[in-house]
Amino acid sequence: MTEKFIPITDYRNLNSVPVIPQVLEAPNGMLRDTLARPLHDLRISVTDHCNFRCVYCMPKEVFDKDYAFLPHSALLTFEEITRLAAIFVAHGVEKIRLTGGEPLLRKNIERLIGMLSSLRTPDGRELDLTLTTNGSLLAKKARLLRDAGLKRVTVSLDALDDAVFKRMNDVDFPVTDVLAGIDAAHQAGLGPIKINMVVKRGMNEQEILPMARHFKGSPYILRFIEYMDVGASNGWKMDEVIPSAEVMRRIDAELPLQQVAPNYQGETAGRWRYQDGGGEIGLISSVTQAFCHDCNRARLSTEGKIYTCLFAGSGHDFRALLRSNRSDHEISNAVAQIWRGRADRYSELRSANTSELPSATRKVEMSYIGG
Ligand code: GTP
Ligand code: 5AD
Ligand code: SF4
Ligand code: SF4
Repeated sequence: MTEKFIPITDYRNLNSVPVIPQVLEAPNGMLRDTLARPLHDLRISVTDHCNFRCVYCMPKEVFDKDYAFLPHSALLTFEEITRLAAIFVAHGVEKIRLTGGEPLLRKNIERLIGMLSSLRTPDGRELDLTLTTNGSLLAKKARLLRDAGLKRVTVSLDALDDAVFKRMNDVDFPVTDVLAGIDAAHQAGLGPIKINMVVKRGMNEQEILPMARHFKGSPYILRFIEYMDVGASNGWKMDEVIPSAEVMRRIDAELPLQQVAPNYQGETAGRWRYQDGGGEIGLISSVTQAFCHDCNRARLSTEGKIYTCLFAGSGHDFRALLRSNRSDHEISNAVAQIWRGRADRYSELRSANTSELPSATRKVEMSYIGG
């Protein structure tokens, strides 16, 4: 009999309303946390719903009809999201990624994209505005998203074999429809497109080479992600993680690879290129080679909480500030205060002791915080 995991939803109450410092100061784009890490990416979750039930993210036995998804009134409005995003951009954020759940399920998401795409960095540059999707609605929406101002997309795809893919998404969704979505995104100019494959031992490891062969020489960058212990419901076990080094060895044996320098500091993926010029792949090794030392990402949940780590147990309630007549200047100061006090490095602590997770705090679910 499989164990039933108990959903932990009351982490939503473990919030704190941010403190606004007495002395107000202008944002200068130079925020550093306690480990000298800058603030560069803002990941915004726009819904906690998803039309998939990936076994490693929203297992059906937890995310069933009784699961307490957020009520509509709890969600930040597009105006609230944009106001907060503008404050983060003034503090140095240059990349905004929309996530979910499945972000394309949020009604009129193209309107939000239009609003965010008009934001500029303090020196007048456009943002890197992107979105991580399961691809199921891309064939229908790619052109609309591009026209609204989205720059690129990343598509999750865990297998090419239809039976394996359906076992992973657990809603019988066919792989051909995701491939059609990727194609539509390419046609619409939403590149460079990255393909995310979460590798889970005993589940889809036999798909590593077929995926590599399929995307080699294509315009798409395939990235292999180590299965992570996010949330409290996926029943994560270390022995289900296939280390990136092993993924690399398996591919390299047939399709020789060599390492490439990162595109920018703080990139999640290590880059490898095919020696014969067939393009590159990425390896995201958050379990075996944690990248906390230069983690520059803040996360905004669907209901307006700021999390400074994917594995945080609680967030800072900015919805309360947004809805309490606070000025931009005050909210900006609260952001600065939180970032300056940040000390998170969950994955590094976990790596230091893989047999035991670093803390007993309740962690938020991936579908709530967006990965
Ligand atoms: P690019 O900007 O295209 O490089 O995207 P990204 O890698 O920043 O984002 P994406 O949504 O594609 O995430 C890829 C994988 O990395 C997912 O499994 C995320 O959950 C994981 N990931 C992203 N940021 C972090 C992080 O700060 N910590 C950890 N542990 N995992 C992360
Ligand atoms: N471990 C690693 N990656 C995960 N994702 C979702 N759950 C997990 C997990 N437990 C991935 C999704 C998506 C990205 C945002 O995070 O597949 O590509
Ligand atoms: Fe949905 Fe993405 Fe989670 Fe799969 S990984 S259940 S597609 S949010
Ligand atoms: Fe950043 Fe936390 Fe991920 Fe480390 S575990 S890289 S601090 S989000």
